Parts: sequence; structure tokens; C-alpha cells
Amino acid sequence: MVDYDSQTPMMRQLLDIKKKHPDSILMTRMGDFYEMFFDDAKTAARELDITLTSRGGKHRQVPLAGIPYHAIDSYIAKLVKKGYKVTICEQMEDPKKAVGLVKRAVVRTITPGSVVESNMLDSKSNNYIISIFRDGDYFGISLADVSTGSFLTTSFKGRGKFFAEMSRFSPKECVMPKTLQLDKVFVDEIKKQGVYVNYLDDDLFRADTARDALEKHFRTKYLEGFGIKDMPLSIKSSGALVRYLSDTQMKELSHLNRIHTYSTDDYMILDRQTQRNLEICANISDGSEKGTLFELFDHAKTPMGARTVKSWLLHPLLDAGKISGRHDAVAELSANVILRKDIRDHLDNVYDIERILSRIVCGSANARDLIAMKMSMLEIPHIKKLLSSVRSSMLSDISGIDSLADAAGCIQESIADEPPATMRDGGVIKDGHNAELDNLRSVTRDGKSWIAKIEDDERKRTGINSLRVRFNKVFGYYIEVTKANLDRVPSDYIRKQTTVNGERFITADLKEKESLILGAEEKIKALELNLFVEVLTKLMEHLDKMKDAAFKIGVLDALSCFSDVAAQNNYVKPVVNDSDTIRISDGRHPTVELISDSGRFVPNSTYLDGSCDMMAVITGPNMAGKSTYMRQVALIVLMAQAGSFVPASSASVGIVDRIFTRVGAHDDLSTGQSTFMVEMNETANILNNATSKSLVILDEIGRGTSTYDGLSIAWSVAEYILLKIGAKTLFATHYHVMNRLKDNLSGVKNYHVSVREDGDNIIFLRKIEEGGVDRSYGVEVARLAGLPSEVVDRAKAMQSMFESEDGSGDVAFPVDEDTKKKIDELGSAVDAPSKGRDGSMQKKLFG
Ligand SMILES: Nc1ncnc2c1ncn2[C@@H]1O[C@H](COP(=O)(O)OP(=O)(O)OP(=O)(O)O)[C@@H](O)[C@H]1O
Ligand SMILES: [Mg+2]
Repeated sequence: MVDYDSQTPMMRQLLDIKKKHPDSILMTRMGDFYEMFFDDAKTAARELDITLTSRGGKHRQVPLAGIPYHAIDSYIAKLVKKGYKVTICEQMEDPKKAVGLVKRAVVRTITPGSVVESNMLDSKSNNYIISIFRDGDYFGISLADVSTGSFLTTSFKGRGKFFAEMSRFSPKECVMPKTLQLDKVFVDEIKKQGVYVNYLDDDLFRADTARDALEKHFRTKYLEGFGIKDMPLSIKSSGALVRYLSDTQMKELSHLNRIHTYSTDDYMILDRQTQRNLEICANISDGSEKGTLFELFDHAKTPMGARTVKSWLLHPLLDAGKISGRHDAVAELSANVILRKDIRDHLDNVYDIERILSRIVCGSANARDLIAMKMSMLEIPHIKKLLSSVRSSMLSDISGIDSLADAAGCIQESIADEPPATMRDGGVIKDGHNAELDNLRSVTRDGKSWIAKIEDDERKRTGINSLRVRFNKVFGYYIEVTKANLDRVPSDYIRKQTTVNGERFITADLKEKESLILGAEEKIKALELNLFVEVLTKLMEHLDKMKDAAFKIGVLDALSCFSDVAAQNNYVKPVVNDSDTIRISDGRHPTVELISDSGRFVPNSTYLDGSCDMMAVITGPNMAGKSTYMRQVALIVLMAQAGSFVPASSASVGIVDRIFTRVGAHDDLSTGQSTFMVEMNETANILNNATSKSLVILDEIGRGTSTYDGLSIAWSVAEYILLKIGAKTLFATHYHVMNRLKDNLSGVKNYHVSVREDGDNIIFLRKIEEGGVDRSYGVEVARLAGLPSEVVDRAKAMQSMFESEDGSGDVAFPVDEDTKKKIDELGSAVDAPSKGRDGSMQKKLFG
């Protein structure tokens, strides 16, 4: 606990400021450093690996850590990346001129969800902050990306949908009403995704306060224009969000000038498990992008394009017209190879204009940002020209992009072509842009020759050839005369300092020139800064046009990327319609085919519909390719609805509203759920939410428990889907009795993945064929995996023994001499197998 009263006035000033920012690391400008005190100093020292010192007298030692002012950006980036908030406190007056305590004030808080600096951002991902309002099971959520100006809101019912949206947008930070803290399970679930959580006053989420905040932010009395007038939950979440952002940024965020309302019903729902299981943006093994669908599609030329592609893959559409619109544009770019190449070549020179724009609005853009902006804008007329004769409606819409000649011209005439990264040393504004600046610059240029001339003149006047005019920070310009020549110094020289070798003097003439030169340098710095701000302000006039252009570039790039990926991988244009049928000929798994030896991936066809072919029960050996096949179907549907071409020889997709996947088994120890509990939770989610328009992938459900229980569950789940839901379903299982489902219910077809037996070995043919099989070849696959041969042989012996059983379920553990010997050899105890064998139990259960 810090004793406030015993602190110096300055420390009390800082403690007062800190009180208003308790959850943030406070960095205070002191001379050439930003200093942190007390616990902030300790945290910073630990996290940034900088020295922890202390300051103050014996009785009031205060922990202190400091960083040089010019290096602050990289330190802030480190802290924010580690999930901290940082508040910057500046001196509000020149300390030299201040009377008493220097005035200080907070100018900005940098938070994980509101950064705009490129060193804190991933160029291929949006950086969202989410605001959550919840009323029972109803949600209003708003998402803003301050770095790109995107601002969205929606409202809906259901916790599952909420977490699906959380996972789609992966926000870095969230704000919610304080009272929501009480639902610890809910908050923990959010925190588990690595989201920084802020609790705001419940008042900020009140209908009237929220509406006021929005009206103030959008400068309108009429929220109708944004379509959220009748979305009370969205008004609450959005209002609180703009308040939070303006409080932390302390700037007007005029690029968040439009809020876009969307409905979760506009997009295919992909719950969290499905996003994970299909490895859309993160793989299952380590959460990285390796091997994901996004990695496959990571061919965009610009950051806007990459972000658009990612968002399209995570938001497959449901409207056949919109989807076909994308397909048509991709087709046009695919058919016209030269057009595509030319467009992509130009896109290659376009920088992250969306984020530069945000930095312009937030006042943190530097001169190099503006040059990057200009270079990018200069590409637009070329792109426009290339698009002048396109036919597809999306491309011709993009061809209407503003060429931004005014904005480019504004930068061109004011900013130096190769400016320095900071404003510190000047040189940012072009010669010829401002007459006063040109004058001052000529003074500093001429100054050098004035000084040289003074040196020359004084040498002649005094006859001291070694006389020099020099400069240092303490005296400015001075004349240096060595000891031996001191007797020749004229009387008008004013002595300033004696050194070992001689003495330093100044003269009235020297000081006069000096004040001209130094004054000019100071003036240049101030003037350049003013002129730079002027350019930023001028550019703001073009904000809407530039934002629109950045958006169109993103879409064009995404379409060209889809078309490039399609060409490289031999994809076809799918047909998408509102029918009830999914028909894929020779489909391939988009990412597995890339890691298979070339040409070795075996294509497979699929037919599913809402009547006779609703459910495919897929059996076949371990390792045969069941899981790969089922995911391939899901991915092809997803890609088609995202607007991409697909890996198949032809495909026709009746639009799917949701893809569900129940795949594999994993513990969720962090929420205290067992493998089986996780599996059942996910299955429950499917049964409660799937519709007849959904696609369900069930990969071996029920395997996390005993065979009896598992099989019973698998059977009843399948029945329920067929009879009550009518969702198109792919169901892989090693419970071979599931093959009998089709005899009991209509709508089921059996398939298997074929293999060929070759002595003790099996050869995987990877071909899906009609009809079920009743062997899993588990032991053979175990051999392939390298289990010790003793174990494999023993397993084979056990297998044939179980298979010769009569099905009574009472299997005696066979311990003849031979076996005993083998067990001893293995050196480990073997538990008696649980009762029965698959076949017999299955017979018992289902007759
Ligand atoms: N169509 C295919 N063409 C070529 N290789 C394939 C094909 N399908 C799958 N594979 C390869 O076979 C491996 C095993 O496939 P998969 O995991 O789908 O088998 P599975 O039948 O689900 O096995 P298990 O029953 O053990 O879960 C994959 O990792 C892949 O390398
Ligand atoms: Mg599998």
C-alpha cells in the first residue's frame, strides 16, 4: 500500500492519474524517458527485461523503471502483445518554462483490441474488440477493428451462437457490463480464448446512455440510417463500445463512421468445434496456420485481400445469388489468365492502405505511411483500366473504384519522396511546398558557409592560422585559440572557457549568425510538424473514398486469390442452389491432397439428399480414409458457399445452413470435462440445433465409453437425426452393426472405404464403395504402426479366439502354458479383457 501523504507533490500527481487507470501500466514522460513507478515498474521490469531501480529519499523509496522516449513504440508493442494495457501520460508544458509542478495529462491508452500501429498487428487478420450485452439467453454484440475502421453489430439468441461468433472473429479484447462477471463460467470461457476482458459500468449499457453515445459518435439524431434503431441489444453493446474506445483513444475515431448490422442468419453457422475440426484458420495439432484451409488460400497480394479471404472462409454465405456472384467473378479471372496476372502484379504494389488510413485518422501515421499510401493509390488507375471491360457484376462494380487522384496529388506535392521515419530531424516536407519553409531551409544551408566565412575572416584578421570555429551544445558556436596564440586574440573576443590546450571565445557577429541558424532549425521543426498535420487533415477530406477503395481492393484481391488457387490446384466452378442435394464427383480433400505424393490422392464422389440418401454410414479399416473423406465433403461445401471453386471434377451444392462436426476425442481439462463428456456435449449441440438444411459429420461417436453404451448412443443418435431432424449426415463408425440401420430406417445408405488384403498386410485403396464391411483390420494397422511383433501376434491370437466364441459374452481368459510364457516374455501384466466381443454384443443388442 502506498502512503499517499508521505509522497512528493510530483508523486502525488502521478498517483492521482494512476487512480483513474488502475488496470493499465502508466508510462509518464520525464525528460528523455518514460518512467513507470510502483507495481507498474515491477511489472515492466519483469516483462520487458529492463532494470528496476528506485528513487526518492531514504524513507520513501519508490520502485522505478524507465525507457528512452524514442524506443517507446517497441516496448509498448511488447507489453500489449503480452496482454497488458498501457496508458501514456505526457508533459503538457515545457518543463523549462513551467512554474512549479509540470502539468501532465493522459493522452492515450493502448489496449490489445484498439491498437493501430503495424508492429502490434498481424497484417492478415483483423484485430477486433467485442462489446457484449447479454440479457438471459439473448445477446447484442458489437465488433470494432480500430486498425481498419470496420464496425459491426448483431443480436441473436443462444450461447452456442455467441461462442461461434467469438471464435469466428477471435477478438483480442472485450468489454461487458460489470454484473456479467457474476457468471464466472461464461467469463472464464471467454478468457480461455486469450481475450482481454474489461468490465464497464452497467450504466454505459443502458438504453438511453448507449443511444446518446451513438448519436454523439455518428453525429446524428437518427440511428435509422444504420439499421439498428430496432435492435435494442445492439444499441446497448455498440453504445458502450464507442464510449470505451473514445475514452481510451481520446481522439475522435471518425473512420468508424458507419456501423454495419448483420444477421447470423446471413452466414453458414460454423460452431467453434467445427472451425477447429475443419482446420479453417488454425490446425488441431498446435493451433498454427500450418496445413489449414487459410494457408492454402493465403495467396492474396495485399493485407486487405488476405483479411477478406480469411473472413470469407469463416463466413460462407447462404444466398445462392451472392455466392454465384463470387463464382462468376472468380470464373472470369480464371478464364482470363493475362488479366488476372496483370491485376495481381499491380496489387503487389499496394500496401495496407486500410490500416494506414486508420493511422491517419488516429494521428499516428508517419511520412513513410503517406508515401506507401501514395504509391498504392498510383496503382488504382491501372487497375481501373484493366477492369474496364469485365463482364461479371462484382468485377464491374469494383471497376467503379475512385482513382483517388486528389488524395495522391496532395501527398505527392507535399511529402518528400523518401522521407525519414520520424519527424525528429525534419526533411519530411518537400522543397517548394511552402515558401516560409524554403526560406528557413536556405538560412540553415547558407549558415554553414557563413560560419566557414567567419573562420576565414578571423584567421586573416588575427593572423592565427590554427584558429577554428566549432560547435557544442553548451555554448553553441565558439572560436577556439590554442595557448601559443593567446597573445594575438583581439579585444572584442569574449572569453567563455579555458581548456587544457587553449581558450574558447565568442564574438557578437558569431552569436548573431548562430541565433539565425539555430532559430531557423527550431522553426523548421515546428513548421514541418504543422505542415504534416495539415496534410493529414486534407487527406481526411477523402476519407470515405479512400475507405471504399481499400474495401474494393480487398474484394478484388480475394477474388483474384480464389481464382489463382483454383488454377493452381485444378478446381472447378461449383453449382450452388437451393435444392436439397449435394452431389460431388471425384472430390478431393483440399489440404490433404497437397501433402499426398503427387497424383496419389484418390478422388471420391458423394451423393446426399433429403430423402433416400440422407445418411451415409461409412465403415472400413482404420487408416482407410473415412475421416479424410467426410471432412473433404464438409470443406467442399464450405468452399463452394464461400465463393471459391472446389477440388472435384464437378460439384453441385444445395445450400447448407450449418456444418456440424463431431470428430475425434479430446479432454477439456481446463473446464473440468472428461473426454466422454466433451463428446456428449458436442453431440447434444448437434441434436438440439441441426436442421434439415444442415450437414452433419459424425466421426465415430460413442467411442469414449464402453462398447455397449457407445453403440447404443450411436444408434439412437442416428435414428434421431433421420427421424426428427432430416439433416444430411456422414457417419463413420467401427460399430459394424450400424450397417443394419438401413434395414430398419429409410434414408440410409452404407458405404465402406476399400482395401485389399495381401497375406498379413492390407493395401489401402482409399476408394469409397457402396455397402458396409464388418472388419476394421485394427490389428493389421497396429502392425503397420510398429507395435512390437509379440504384441501383434498375441493380439491376432486373441482376435481369432474371440471370433470363435459363441457370443455368450462370457469369455474365459485363456491361460495355457504357451500364453503364460508369452506374457512373461512381454514382461508386463495383461488385464483380463472386458466381457464379450463386439460382434456378440452387437448381436445381442440388436438381434
Ligand atoms: N483419398 C485418399 N487418397 C490418398 N490418401 C488418403 C486418402 N484418404 C486418406 N488418405 C490418407 O490416409 C490417412 C488416414 O486417413 P483417415 O484418418 O481418414 O483414416 P480413417 O479411416 O478415418 O482411420 P481411423 O478409422 O483410424 O480413424 C490420411 O492421413 C491420409 O494421409
Ligand atoms: Mg478416422
